[in-house]
Amino acid sequence: MLEVIERILITREELQAKVKELAAQISKDYEGKELFLVSVLKGGFMFTADLMREITIPCEIDFMAVSSYGQGSKTSGVVKIVKDLDQSVEGKDILVVEDILDSGLTLSYLKQNLLARGAKSVKVCTILNKEERRKADIKADYLGFEIPDEFVVGYGLDYAEKYRNFPFVGVLKKEVYQK
Ligand code: IMP
Ligand code: MG
Repeated sequence: MLEVIERILITREELQAKVKELAAQISKDYEGKELFLVSVLKGGFMFTADLMREITIPCEIDFMAVSSYGQGSKTSGVVKIVKDLDQSVEGKDILVVEDILDSGLTLSYLKQNLLARGAKSVKVCTILNKEERRKADIKADYLGFEIPDEFVVGYGLDYAEKYRNFPFVGVLKKEVYQK
């Protein structure tokens, strides 16, 4: 399976260390508040699980799944909620946990959506950021790593639903998706 990887960008150890750092900052910033994690499926599941384990204050979690309408690898900015939260977010301090900020269209939609439902605050935490690709006016409040504009897989991120299980973040070989 490793033969699809061109190079490893972020190792398992680097991810673990960064997750601890982020969780420590989040635990400090949300002390005394009602922290409610919203994990974005599927890409955000691995990062969320690791992050939540390192958070040292009481917190709740729920899941959302979204899909963006668009052809192939292009996102159109129109987001559809495929799986919604089970609980109300009204009055809660929400931290949306996602794999990557790319165009930013998904997270910018989600942020507005949660605020419209009466969340007290909505912040965003992603493990990766591709700054060059940004279309929407959004930045991560908590961010792991800046990465170049290359297609990556692993640590929850997929190509055609595969390779989410790599414990590192790696650049996918171009021949894998240019076939
Ligand atoms: P957005 O463009 O910021 O709305 O990101 C939409 C989604 O695209 C992210 O949640 C990821 O699931 C996916 N995505 C963006 N870049 C990559 C990548 O390099 N590898 C795998 N998935 C990606
Ligand atoms: Mg995703």
